[in-house]
Amino acid sequence: MQNTIRPTHVEVNLNYLCENLKAIKAKAAPAKVMIIIKANAYGHGMETVAHHLAPHADYIGVAVLEEGILLRKKGIKTPILVLGGIWEEQIPEFIKYNLSLTASSVERLRQIDRAAEMLGKKAIVHLKIDTGMERIGVHYYTAHTLQEAALGCENLITEGIYSHFANSDAENLDHARLQLARFNEVLDFYPKHSLPFPALRHIANSGAILQLPEANFDMVRPGIMLYGVYPSDEVKRTVKVIPSLSWRSKVVYFKVTKANHPVSYGSIWQSDQNTRVVTVPVGYGDGYFRAMSNQGEVIIRGIKRPQVGRICMDQMVVNLGADGSGYNGDEVILIGQQGEERITAENLARWAGTIPYEILTNINTRVPRVYIS
Ligand SMILES: Cc1ncc(COP(=O)(O)O)c(C=O)c1O
Repeated sequence: MQNTIRPTHVEVNLNYLCENLKAIKAKAAPAKVMIIIKANAYGHGMETVAHHLAPHADYIGVAVLEEGILLRKKGIKTPILVLGGIWEEQIPEFIKYNLSLTASSVERLRQIDRAAEMLGKKAIVHLKIDTGMERIGVHYYTAHTLQEAALGCENLITEGIYSHFANSDAENLDHARLQLARFNEVLDFYPKHSLPFPALRHIANSGAILQLPEANFDMVRPGIMLYGVYPSDEVKRTVKVIPSLSWRSKVVYFKVTKANHPVSYGSIWQSDQNTRVVTVPVGYGDGYFRAMSNQGEVIIRGIKRPQVGRICMDQMVVNLGADGSGYNGDEVILIGQQGEERITAENLARWAGTIPYEILTNINTRVPRVYIS
């Protein structure tokens, strides 16, 4: 199979994904698990990840309507919540494809209720409370307006109520604890009115799963840790997860560059001695950020080698040194392990001045995904 595809590819280990989910379930039990597979499953390929993990998950979380519809069209039957904001014209599609809606304002909630009535179906909603993210959702201090409105909507099933942490992966958890306290206050509405809680109260992303177990409630929503990557450097690693993605290519060209002959666009790098360089057919068009130019490393023949000169759209150059070994066809590891050496998504994030989330979600769809298990 490897020969029939572009030598540049992402390899996803489905066993590791399953192991990671198992470890998260064990940590969060008895809470249910919503697997977050938006943005092409953090670059891992949404469809295959969904097929592989859905049988072991209680819920699926995606960001936009189209992701939910795609999963339904591919035969995924697991409940799916679309986490993002919605527009009125989209509501009938949600109901048609049996996708749970995020109700993030009283107005939206009423629109969903009316659409469901017209379609003669019940819509499943999760109320979105803003406890300190200042993104979508009703502020915690006016949440009762949404909760009361939901009680009056006859065409809705208020299955869930949720919020989202801004800082659960930080070393200092003061803000996360403040958000949690606000969420608990919002939930007090139900016992105060002698009402049962909605079946699914949820707020915990990866950071909270790792270091704020009191935030588990009925369901947790792991994203990045499902893929074996921790949400920050400082987060406590209380669950062991394994990176499930590696990014590989092959040397496409070898040459010796003479001393003081600059390499690539802008001529920002040159060697002061004759040096062996190889071209790797990966560039920012594949999602290997240009910001990493002259910062990053790859592994060739088990040795870390520096990438030199500007990263181009489709190619980049790696310096093997005056007598380093490497030649056409050699495997190049961009993320992953070879021999004793390893390069992580966190390494790339540091070189690019970003976070591993952005590294993973930006690996372009033109890079084929290969699945192993
Ligand atoms: C609403 C919501 N829940 C859960 C997650 C998963 O977060 P993480 O990848 O940090 O676990 C995200 C990701 O951005 C999100 O937006």
